[in-house]
Amino acid sequence: MSKPLLIGPFTQLLPMSGLPLKGALSDEQLIRIENGGIVVSDGKIRTVGVFEELKSNTVDIHHIEGKNVCLPGFVDAHTHICFSGSRARDYAYRNSGKTYLEIAKAGGGIWDTVIQTRKASLEDLVEGVVSRSTSHLRNGTTTIEVKSGYGLSIEEELKMLRAIKQANQKTNTDLVATCLAAHMKPKDWNGDKNYLEEIASQLFPILKSEDLSNRIDAFIEQSTFSALEIAPYFRKAKAMGFDITVHADLFTTSGSEVAIHFDAISADHLEASTENEIQLLANSNVISTALPGASLGLGCDFTPARKLLDAGGALAIASDHNPGSAPMGHLLAQASVLGTFEKLSNAEVLAGITFRASAALNLLDRGTLETNKLAEFVVFPTDNYQEITYHQGQLKPNMVWKRGEKIYERD
Ligand code: NIG
Ligand code: FE
Repeated sequence: MSKPLLIGPFTQLLPMSGLPLKGALSDEQLIRIENGGIVVSDGKIRTVGVFEELKSNTVDIHHIEGKNVCLPGFVDAHTHICFSGSRARDYAYRNSGKTYLEIAKAGGGIWDTVIQTRKASLEDLVEGVVSRSTSHLRNGTTTIEVKSGYGLSIEEELKMLRAIKQANQKTNTDLVATCLAAHMKPKDWNGDKNYLEEIASQLFPILKSEDLSNRIDAFIEQSTFSALEIAPYFRKAKAMGFDITVHADLFTTSGSEVAIHFDAISADHLEASTENEIQLLANSNVISTALPGASLGLGCDFTPARKLLDAGGALAIASDHNPGSAPMGHLLAQASVLGTFEKLSNAEVLAGITFRASAALNLLDRGTLETNKLAEFVVFPTDNYQEITYHQGQLKPNMVWKRGEKIYERD
């Protein structure tokens, strides 16, 4: 074991520990350690407690100056940050009254990004992912899920997933890759076989052999894949041991029921979920992931986060950062705004981007600050944690630590 290092004092340390995965949370339930400290070694947390008490047992100390609040590093459980090109034109069309589906039919939408992304080299894609994940890191995000889905052929999906894998080696964030070859039906598919069958039989084995991803996602919607079409695809994915996640109930319902049926880890979007889906999700093990960035980008309703929590559901919050529906890509800003519109407590917002989000990625080694978890935390220059959501993303972290090392400091 490497020599323990005590980091602190933190004016307020919020370990986000001891809280349930599911259901509503009040701020009174948050543990707040005043003048706290964290002892780390080998990249993991040994102890969390009061700085002065920990000081007597530790030789090496990293002093944190000034007032500050320490939280677990944020986890963004749903992004599409591997892409090329811009969809500013779509955004302008949308704001002039055209719908997402009308724009897609007119040559915009996901397919436009597919064309741009296919033109990009693997190196270009790596660079884009590294640069976007670095800017997320500066806002406190230490783990980022990244989907493919702008390739839509075996070779092009592989290019994206290989780029994500290489980017992971070049960034200080942890990237979790998800295969979203079922993002839409490729407009140029002319194989004899069914597209999804081909992906499952040809691409899935390569995902395993090259260790590119252990997660399979699909966009279930009237305009993309129906519940019926996706069933054999998910059955194969499950039989091969992949985790399932679903783009569900964005414009119309049915996706969340598919997610529950296939015991998915998460159902994401849910802007169109009704009372029926809310109850089904709340009574299942599927984590509901709200994507307020998509509501802000599309100008549609927010995910019914309050209702999901009150019904007893588990709510994660992610940025959905992508060039089409969610170009902003600022997790903390979006989670804070979701809190304002959906009447969420600070505890619910912060849980949604820490331990509830890591659960949505099946990562049990992070998301809270407690013994044996990874030493990954973000430090904000304030003495009151309420300031963090209050400033809606404008209060920037002055420090980010990952695996027990300071990987970012604001000048
Ligand atoms: O999560 N809904 C489908 N996929 C993305 C949009 C991707 C895009 O428009 O490029 C989403 O919002
Ligand atoms: Fe998405």
